[in-house]
Amino acid sequence: MAEGRFDNPIVAALAGFLDLFRKQGLSDRLKDSDRIDGKTCLITGANSGLGFAIAVDLAKRGSHVIMACRRQIPEAGEKVKALSGSDKVEMMYLDLSKIDTIHDFCDTLKANKRIIDICILNAGVALPKSRKTNSGLEELFLVNYLSNVIMTSRLLKDGTIPNDTLNNNKQNKESRILFISSDSHQGSSYVDYDEFGKYLEYGVSKGMEYYSYYKLVANTYFTELSRRLNSKNNIDVAVHVICPGPVNTNIVKEAPWLLRKMLRGIFFVIFKSPESAAKAVVYMSISEDYAGITNEYLHMFNMKKMDPKVYEVDEGIKLWKETHKLWKQVDPDFVSLSVVD
Ligand SMILES: NC(=O)c1ccc[n+]([C@@H]2O[C@H](COP(=O)([O-])OP(=O)(O)OC[C@H]3O[C@@H](n4cnc5c(N)ncnc54)[C@H](OP(=O)(O)O)[C@@H]3O)[C@@H](O)[C@H]2O)c1
Repeated sequence: MAEGRFDNPIVAALAGFLDLFRKQGLSDRLKDSDRIDGKTCLITGANSGLGFAIAVDLAKRGSHVIMACRRQIPEAGEKVKALSGSDKVEMMYLDLSKIDTIHDFCDTLKANKRIIDICILNAGVALPKSRKTNSGLEELFLVNYLSNVIMTSRLLKDGTIPNDTLNNNKQNKESRILFISSDSHQGSSYVDYDEFGKYLEYGVSKGMEYYSYYKLVANTYFTELSRRLNSKNNIDVAVHVICPGPVNTNIVKEAPWLLRKMLRGIFFVIFKSPESAAKAVVYMSISEDYAGITNEYLHMFNMKKMDPKVYEVDEGIKLWKETHKLWKQVDPDFVSLSVVD
């Protein structure tokens, strides 16, 4: 059975708090004057919390920002415009618990010949109990893992994220994909293929474990994607992973009432603001320090390694195959990625 590092949200929150005392080695590498005029950034789940703060910061730095969200359209975008002073902000509908909306979203970008320079896979949920989606998959699994696979695969195959491996349209552009993970993935179990993609009932404790575990699963997948897209001497599309550290956001909005009140109190008093947490994500998204390299991991502003399991090549290959097998089963619009198979 798959196991995550934490089964208690209060313990997880307090562990996150201790992380705030770790040295932030790279925090002076991002300057307010750093700009990315002319670049287009896509951020999923940008109507709230960390994603919203990333959107404001990147818009202030001159980029065109696409906020991919399932609600608060257009209000959240209007707020980002007001806070950043930029009008290069747009919102598009995307619900990662509904696979067809991912295809619609990607179709629209493709039809409009949009090019994404920086793709930030930020959207995520923490659920107090299992929930079945239209596809039959459990929501935490789909939103926090498989939908990120589907979306990046489509964006690469369509050339919306320019690349030579799948589309031959890179033309000197070096795009970056950033997956927003959690350091709580460290210590989660190996991927359990007996239960991979199966609908499993869970409550708060196991839900917390699955949250950390699916972050490990996603980190393993994006490490494998990085291997398939890039070689030592040739970076086609950089793929990085980052944990923003403990952030005072809406991530616990679905927790039971008492637990939610307690967690919100802890978050409010001791966690970082989204604006402050967004800085490390912005740094990794735009800094020249990350030009020409791939598969790096940042824990806030600390360079770190992910859980060792994430880097095991056999694990990556098996996960890649099983993920595409599952995707094909649940999605009539499955996109074959045979070029990187
Ligand atoms: N907060 C922390 O301490 C912390 C620590 C480590 C990592 N993270 C990660 O940071 C990321 C952002 O979370 P947050 O803390 O900023 O929480 P948040 O305020 O709840 O933001 C999560 C975002 O994801 C969106 N989302 C959820 N389900 C979605 C779906 N089906 N389709 C499209 N969008 C969906 C939410 O949209 P709605 O508003 O519509 O729900 C919201 O915009 C997550 O990946 C989380 O795992 C957070």
